Amino acid sequence: MPLIDNECYLLDREEFNSVHDFIRKEDEPLTIGTLTLEKGQEIQVGIDSLFASHIGIFGNTGSGKSYTLAKIYYELFKKYKDQPNSS
Ligand SMILES: Nc1ncnc2c1ncn2[C@@H]1O[C@H](COP(=O)(O)OP(=O)(O)OP(=O)(O)O)[C@@H](O)[C@H]1O
Ligand SMILES: [Mg+2]
Repeated sequence: MPLIDNECYLLDREEFNSVHDFIRKEDEPLTIGTLTLEKGQEIQVGIDSLFASHIGIFGNTGSGKSYTLAKIYYELFKKYKDQPNSS
């Protein structure tokens, strides 16, 4: 929580990207959207981390939980739909 008299820093592009990087190096990225207020900043999640574990999406009524879940599966199926061995 920022307080009066705290120092603040402007992040460079690399630092800003690393704040929004949720993927382990060996994982496969899945792009689920971009930040509303930061054009071009993609948000990616790691496929292995996400689908091999439990998922919780929290938010107020109407905040987009169902939409987010549908989007995640849409992007997953789109990415692997042409792979015959995917199950
Ligand atoms: N990222 C988004 N971009 C555009 N529209 C969105 C986005 N997320 C949600 N919406 C729209 O907002 C509305 C509410 O979204 P959604 O139904 O996913 O909310 P919810 O959190 O699941 O609500 P509830 O708690 O009632 O189940 C829908 O009309 C949906 O299309
Ligand atoms: Mg819902």
